[in-house]
Amino acid sequence: METLTLVVFGATGDLARRKLYPAIANNIMSGLLPKDTRLIGTARQVMTDQGYRRLVEESAGRSWPKSAPLTYLSGDADQPAVHQALAEHLKGTRGLHLFYLAVPTQLIGPVVARLAEAKLGRSRGRVIVEKPFGVDEASARTLNRQMQKAFAEGEIYRIDHYLGKETVQNILVFRFSNGVMEPLWNRGQIDHVQITAAETIGIEGRSDYYDHSGALRDMVQNHLLQLLALTAMEPPAVFSAEGVRSEKVKVLSAVRPVRAEDAVRGQYQAGMVEGVRVRAYTAEPGVAKDSRRETFCALRVFIDNWRWHGVPFYLRTGKRLPERATRIQVVFKAPPLDLFEGAAQTNILTIHIQPDERISLRIGAKRPGLGTHVDPVEMEFVYASSFRSASAEAYERLLVDATQGDPTLFTREDEVEAAWRVLDPLVQRWDRETSCPPYAAGSWGPQTAAALIARDGRTWLDP
Ligand SMILES: NC(=O)c1ccc[n+]([C@@H]2O[C@H](COP(=O)([O-])OP(=O)(O)OC[C@H]3O[C@@H](n4cnc5c(N)ncnc54)[C@H](OP(=O)(O)O)[C@@H]3O)[C@@H](O)[C@H]2O)c1
Repeated sequence: METLTLVVFGATGDLARRKLYPAIANNIMSGLLPKDTRLIGTARQVMTDQGYRRLVEESAGRSWPKSAPLTYLSGDADQPAVHQALAEHLKGTRGLHLFYLAVPTQLIGPVVARLAEAKLGRSRGRVIVEKPFGVDEASARTLNRQMQKAFAEGEIYRIDHYLGKETVQNILVFRFSNGVMEPLWNRGQIDHVQITAAETIGIEGRSDYYDHSGALRDMVQNHLLQLLALTAMEPPAVFSAEGVRSEKVKVLSAVRPVRAEDAVRGQYQAGMVEGVRVRAYTAEPGVAKDSRRETFCALRVFIDNWRWHGVPFYLRTGKRLPERATRIQVVFKAPPLDLFEGAAQTNILTIHIQPDERISLRIGAKRPGLGTHVDPVEMEFVYASSFRSASAEAYERLLVDATQGDPTLFTREDEVEAAWRVLDPLVQRWDRETSCPPYAAGSWGPQTAAALIARDGRTWLDP
């Protein structure tokens, strides 16, 4: 295994503490990263190496391996000094330098430029960058160009942690390792698709970020459009990073930019979530009382290609909804003839991404007894019972892939830009809105969300 130096920018931040350090520690312990992985953390906060060790150990919930050296450098990542200090530290080290940018998005451009000035880019460097990647298509393109000045595109790993989830990777395996699905997977058999990412949490103290971002940028541009791309893409000729990513770009390029009349937004008010009283979005610490930022959105999306022409994809995400669940529901067309008098079933294939990881198919079955009564029942594959081994955390898998140079589960430059292109008209329009429709915390969003889909004679498939 190649020697690895992992440099974390944003070393004291929420993401580093909650996700990154546990993932690095687990990977070192299980032998997926080298035992002597060298960790260098940097942020503005002043701290000793010992202080950093304590922070990392508390975050990871275990002692740091003795074999893995750990250093902390304090400084403003926008200034050359910390990069020069880093270059000194890295002098003479062997192997891969992996820079993890867990810093506010506006710092990403400056940080990569400084890395390049300190000659830490192209030679042995690889960079992982967190979402959001830009705030619209133009800024994403600018950021791509800035990053490519410092690193080769092949060394830029844009992370979307949804792609690290087993259930998300399984979408492709389910579709393309089973012959039975392909003949059904098109506009001939599928009525529509619903993709829902519902959260019960609010903004968890991240007002600085969220109030500039909102649900559309935070969830749809990346996670939901990734789920759509995996559900709708064509099979690649070969299962390779470029094969998979090119097919995703193709399908995203065929998605029609979303019109204002095909989208609704909402902002949570006070309410009850899972039995607990919660405050309104505008009462969250750090959020302006007159903020118009959306915490919910629902969209109707069309893909202009042969497979999907005329099939709506309804996308929905929000905070302070009644349950935490991410799922893709593929709703098949009803049988042509209603043989059992009003009992014809709409078959629904549900891919439960989280938290209960399973795939289920709703079918009609004869209720035991006299007469012919048809009831809906579920056929299921449940991850936990079919496979004994626990799924790895998304960040663990993605870190290993990035160190091994496998970019399949990371988004390519043209993919990010294609995803922004779908939402750009809406992003700009919503930034100018002077109000945001309210919804009660604990409900499934504003009334307009139900109306959006009811217009087509359909309903959201809530549990
Ligand atoms: N948190 C999540 O769950 C999550 C999920 C997905 C993506 N992300 C993305 O990950 C990135 C980090 O998010 P976060 O939640 O960890 O943010 P955060 O808690 O605000 O942490 C930001 C980190 O960046 C450092 N930093 C800020 N300005 C700096 C500067 N000028 N120079 C050097 N260091 C600086 C901060 O330390 P100092 O203040 O000490 O400098 C801190 O370590 C963001 O792009 C976010 O969108 C976060």
